[in-house]
Amino acid sequence: MKEFQAIQAPKGVSEYFPPRSQNFELVRETLIDSARISGYQLIELPMFEDTELFKRGVGESTDVVSKEMYTFEDRGGRSITLRPEGTAGVMRSVIENNLDKGQLPVKIWYSGAFFRAERPQAGRYRQFYQVGVEAIGASSPELDVEVIAIADRAFKSLGLKSYRLEITSLGDAASRNAHRKDLITFIEKMNLDAETAARAVLNPLRLFDDKREEIRSAMQNAPVLLDYLSPESAAEFASVQEILGALGIAYTVNPRMVRGLDYYTGTTFEFIHEKLGAQSGIGGGGRYDGLMAELGGADISGIGFGLGVDRVLLACEAEGLFDPEFAAGKLKVYLIALGAQSKSATIKLLNDLRTAGIASDMAYGDRALKGAMKAADKSGAQYCVVLGENEISSGKFEIKDMKTGTVKEVTMSTLIDFLAE
Ligand code: HAM
Repeated sequence: MKEFQAIQAPKGVSEYFPPRSQNFELVRETLIDSARISGYQLIELPMFEDTELFKRGVGESTDVVSKEMYTFEDRGGRSITLRPEGTAGVMRSVIENNLDKGQLPVKIWYSGAFFRAERPQAGRYRQFYQVGVEAIGASSPELDVEVIAIADRAFKSLGLKSYRLEITSLGDAASRNAHRKDLITFIEKMNLDAETAARAVLNPLRLFDDKREEIRSAMQNAPVLLDYLSPESAAEFASVQEILGALGIAYTVNPRMVRGLDYYTGTTFEFIHEKLGAQSGIGGGGRYDGLMAELGGADISGIGFGLGVDRVLLACEAEGLFDPEFAAGKLKVYLIALGAQSKSATIKLLNDLRTAGIASDMAYGDRALKGAMKAADKSGAQYCVVLGENEISSGKFEIKDMKTGTVKEVTMSTLIDFLAE
C-alpha cells in the first residue's frame, strides 16, 4: 500500500479538541454570557475584509498592520485581509447597515477567530480566538465602566484571581495634541534609527511600547499623556475611577500603557494575568472617538474590548480552575444494548432521551458487556443502563450511578423524569 505522509496544521495556530475543547467552550460561553446579561447582542461578521479597512481603521504605525496581516489577492484581483481584530469590521458593518440610526448606544458582542502573523510562542498564535464587545454612539464614563465590568465579571465567574486591571486615559484631541508636541520634541533628541523614527512620526506613542532596552530606558523620562489631560478629559477619567471604585473593581493606573492599535482615545485598559509569562494580556480595549468618522461614518464615539479566549483558558488552567470531570464529558446517561433483539428498542430510547434534552449516548457495534462497560466508563456519563431482552420486555431496568456504583430500579416511563431531576 502506498504510504502517505500525514499533513500537519499550519505553524502557530491554536486548535482545541476533546477533552480540552470542553473547557475552551466553557470559557468562551462564560465570556459571552457576561456580555449578554449586559444587553449586548450578537454580530456575526466576515473573517476577511477589504485590506484598506484595517490600514485606515487600525493604523499603519502598528505592528498589526505593518507586519502581521494575512493579506492576499482574491480571484477578482482585490486585496483582501484576514481580520487581525474585530473593531474595524464592526464599525464597517455599523456604517454600512445604518445600525447607528436606531437606539444608541448600539451594543454588540462577537466571538470568533482572528489572524496575526506573529512569531508563535506560548499564548501567542497566528490564528487565535476573541470574544469582544463594542458599545457605539454614546460617550460616558458609566459606559466605559460597564465595558470594563463585563470583562471583570466574566473573569471572576470563571474563578480567576491572579489578574489585574490597568487603566489609563489617552484624553481628547486637545490633550493628545499638547502631549504629542512635547513628546516629539523629546523623541527628536533620541537619535533614532530611520525605521523607528518613521514609526514615531506616524504615532510617537509607539515608542513607549518598544521592547529594546536602550529605548525603554530613554523613554522612562519621556512626557506621559496623563499629565496633559484637558480639564474635561481629566474629569472624565476621574469619574471612571470613581465608578470603578464604587463597583469594587480593583485597578491600577498605568500612564505608560500603549495599546497595539492606533484608534484609541480616552479611557483605555488592559487585563493582565500574573501566571502567563510573556503573553500575559488576557484582554484589552478602550474608547475610540474618531474611528467611525475615519471609516466614513457619523462622528460618534464608541468603546469596546477584545478578550483572548486562548489566553483566558491558559490562565484558568494555570490557576487550576477546571474540574477534570467536566472536561471528560457532559453525558448524563450511557446505554448498552445486550443482544440484537434489544438494539432497536435501545436506539428508540436513546432518541427519546435526546429529544427530552438529556445528553445521552450508547455503545455502538456488537460489543460484549465488558467492553461496553469500559466504553461507558470512558464516556464520563453519570449513569449507565444495560438493556437486555428481559429489561425490554418487562419495561423495568436498573440504572447505575457510575461514580458511587449504586443501582436503582426504574421503568421506561419514569426514566426520563429520573434523569431530568
Ligand atoms: P488586542 O489587545 O489587540 O485588542 O487584542 C485583545 C486580546 O486578544 C489580547 O488581550 C489577547 O488576549 C488576545 N490576543 C491578541 N493577539 C493574540 C495572539 N496572537 N494570540 C493569542 N491571543 C491574542 C483588540 O483586538 C481590539 N480590537 C480590542 C477592542 C475592541 N478595542 C476596542 N474594542
